[in-house]
Amino acid sequence: MATVKLKASSLLLCVLSFVACSSTSVRYPVVLIPGDGGSQLVAKLNKTSSPHYLCRKSTSDYESIWLNLEELLPEVLDCFVDNMRLWYNPKTRKTFNTPGVDIKVSGFGGTESVEFLDPNPVSHLSSSLAYFYYIVSDLVSLGYVRGQSVRGAPFDFRKAPNELSDYFIDLQKLIEETYQKNNNTKIVAIAHSMGNPVFLYFLNRQPQSWKNKFIQSFVTLAGVWGGAVKPLRLMASGDNLGVIIVNTIKIRPQQRSMPSTAFLMPSAQFWAPSDILVRTFEKNYTVKNYKEFFTDMNFTDGYDMRADTENLVSSLTPPQVPVHCIHGSGVPTPGMLIFGKNQFPDSYPSQVDEDGDGTVNIRSLLGCLRWLGRQKYPVIHTAFNGSDSEHMSILSNSGVRKYVVDVVTGKR
Ligand SMILES: *[C@@H]1O[C@H](CO)[C@@H](O)[C@H](O)[C@H]1NC(C)=O
Ligand SMILES: *[C@@H]1O[C@H](CO)[C@@H](O)[C@H](O)[C@H]1NC(C)=O
Ligand SMILES: *[C@@H]1O[C@H](CO)[C@@H](O)[C@H](O)[C@H]1NC(C)=O
Ligand SMILES: *[C@@H]1O[C@H](CO)[C@@H](O)[C@H](O)[C@H]1NC(C)=O
Ligand SMILES: *[C@@H]1O[C@H](CO)[C@@H](O)[C@H](O)[C@H]1NC(C)=O
Repeated sequence: MATVKLKASSLLLCVLSFVACSSTSVRYPVVLIPGDGGSQLVAKLNKTSSPHYLCRKSTSDYESIWLNLEELLPEVLDCFVDNMRLWYNPKTRKTFNTPGVDIKVSGFGGTESVEFLDPNPVSHLSSSLAYFYYIVSDLVSLGYVRGQSVRGAPFDFRKAPNELSDYFIDLQKLIEETYQKNNNTKIVAIAHSMGNPVFLYFLNRQPQSWKNKFIQSFVTLAGVWGGAVKPLRLMASGDNLGVIIVNTIKIRPQQRSMPSTAFLMPSAQFWAPSDILVRTFEKNYTVKNYKEFFTDMNFTDGYDMRADTENLVSSLTPPQVPVHCIHGSGVPTPGMLIFGKNQFPDSYPSQVDEDGDGTVNIRSLLGCLRWLGRQKYPVIHTAFNGSDSEHMSILSNSGVRKYVVDVVTGKR
């Protein structure tokens, strides 16, 4: 009753005083959780060796390493790989940077680091490098303030949740602080791609009372709930990163060194033992013989990293908060990789496509439906279709943007 009265009187107030009535409606503060490659990273170098005379060994301060297109130019790609890659210690089962390299995320709590992939303003002219920019712009036009009521939670996306414990401490603080700064209003978390299983892992470890107090809802965009076939290409041949022309064999050591790549491989909860993921002339690989997959390409660290990460969210324990599950479909997506005779793993494979958003297979995007009936909070599912709903395009899709505005203003 009290809320009804309050709404009626504030409506009267805005009619009488001619102020914009929208200013009286609720606006939940927003925390953005980016995906794989979606956080800007900076590096400081103090190295004793480097792979090439062109590579710098030291820098006086932190400088942009991801995403910095200049770092990916052919003549300096080796420098990038040596600086950006991780090394695996099979005893501690943890990864570490190349000695003399210090890497950290930039701009935690602000939005700069997640609005654009490349901090260089020149590249902002290319809309393909805009990331959460569209959603943030929409929120700002509603009156949101960057760093106050809309905030970014970038992380070292090279790592999987088992190595992100410091991040989770910071994320919890960020959410609590954002709640307080915004008049004790619950936050809406918006995650993209790998940010979704990362945030699920976090929520699965928070007490229900904390979730009830701080989380209004979880908007999942293009969630990789059960992995995807594409990371297998990063592991095997290396991936050309789509638009950017890079030598795949040269960048492969960096791509396969990331535990996040292992974390995002197809899950046995989503692919049957009869589903062939990688077909070579010599052998077929499925979720059942990942060990052989890695042994045959002489990359056994990859198998250990898969073993460390495959069960972090594989049970898909419900988040126990209201969920808006949004994703694309109808975009050809790698379903199986095919290598010819003696081509595995060093040649770029051909592929058989299946349904998905171009990056994530549809069966994985639909993983949120497994929470229906398993949590008492709603799970509202909306699939978009066609090229506008592609894995990255979904962040600028007008239907998605309208949906997000409706969620943060309490209309959904
Ligand atoms: C760089 O590393 C060397 C050891 O290799 C160390 O003695 C030196 O203090 C470091 N310099 C800076 C600026 O951190
Ligand atoms: C903060 O919340 C209280 C109670 O919900 C409300 O009365 C007050 O107007 C709000 N202040 C602002 C600045 O939104
Ligand atoms: C891989 O699977 C396909 C389809 O089932 C089959 O035709 C082919 O013989 C298999 N290849 C090998 C090397 O076992
Ligand atoms: C793996 O290593 C073995 C032994 O060093 C070598 O014979 C084989 O060709 C390597 N395979 C690949 C795919 O690199
Ligand atoms: C989805 O989009 C694809 C490609 O644009 C199209 O072929 C397909 O018919 C669409 N499906 C639905 C259900 O709209």
